[in-house]
Amino acid sequence: MTRHLLRDDDLTSAEQSEILDLALELKKDRWQVKPLAGPQTVAVIFDKSSTRTRVSFAVGIADLGGSPLIISTANSQLGGKETPSDTARVLERQVAAIVWRTYAQAGLESMAKGTSVPVINALSDDFHPCQLLADLLTIREHKGDLKGLTLSFFGDGRSNMAHSYMLAGVTAGMHVRVTSPESYAPREDVVAAADRRAAETGGSVTLMTDANEAAAGADVIVTDTWVSMGKEEEKLARLRDLSEYKVTDETMSLADPGAIFIHCLPADRGYEVDASVIDGPQSVVWDEAENRLHAQKALLVWLLRQQ
Ligand code: CP
Ligand code: NVA
Repeated sequence: MTRHLLRDDDLTSAEQSEILDLALELKKDRWQVKPLAGPQTVAVIFDKSSTRTRVSFAVGIADLGGSPLIISTANSQLGGKETPSDTARVLERQVAAIVWRTYAQAGLESMAKGTSVPVINALSDDFHPCQLLADLLTIREHKGDLKGLTLSFFGDGRSNMAHSYMLAGVTAGMHVRVTSPESYAPREDVVAAADRRAAETGGSVTLMTDANEAAAGADVIVTDTWVSMGKEEEKLARLRDLSEYKVTDETMSLADPGAIFIHCLPADRGYEVDASVIDGPQSVVWDEAENRLHAQKALLVWLLRQQ
């Protein structure tokens, strides 16, 4: 059966670990496997802007011996004239996999149902599972075994990143704290899915509103933009509502002394994080950005092996 990565809990704990192991191997030698040699093509479709995702998939697909076909939805029939499932049926006859950055998770689900090639969520309004593979890889490199580590997310708890930290974090056996105003708390169905997974792995999810309490003793401090793509009209309200959840030097001083700071980028310095933190000694954001390449290559190799 074709495997897809639409949300973080599509991977079991063992599968996630296998992909991270493979990513570390591929990072040591970028050109050691060529599953796309031929070359085969991978379609990479963008409904929203991107720098890291676009570059890392294009470079990664080329590393694996294939050709990336970058499609902007605005110049394709997908953006209105054709359904995701019809588009999928056209693409599957010609490409090895489909990577799609979009708005609604339902579009990805319908794309995946309509095709026999793997579909990868390159960010939706609800989840960003590719980013999480890179983030977990980065945390492993800097902090060792993921199981039992405490990760504290600050800001918009209902965002794609917060949801993905919950699902992917507990899949790795981590303790995930999501700290936000109550009106920005994570979606209940995602909390329930994370709790189910946590019961299998020994991880946990805790929703908090007190930023200082959430920072205390954490191994990983993380935040994300307060204004995700598609939320631009809410910008003023969000800057006001989330202002108490900025990651500052004080936040870092409350965390474990060996804590690292991560951020998926792009960042708004002075809003969700102070420059002294993101540009400071505990920040590993550039390793994290590089790891998009290695993690996504491992994901592609792994998905193609299941075909
Ligand atoms: N972190 C991330 O997905 O960045 P881009 O929006 O630049 O792809
Ligand atoms: N939450 C952000 C992540 C960007 C990579 C957004 O959706 O815009």
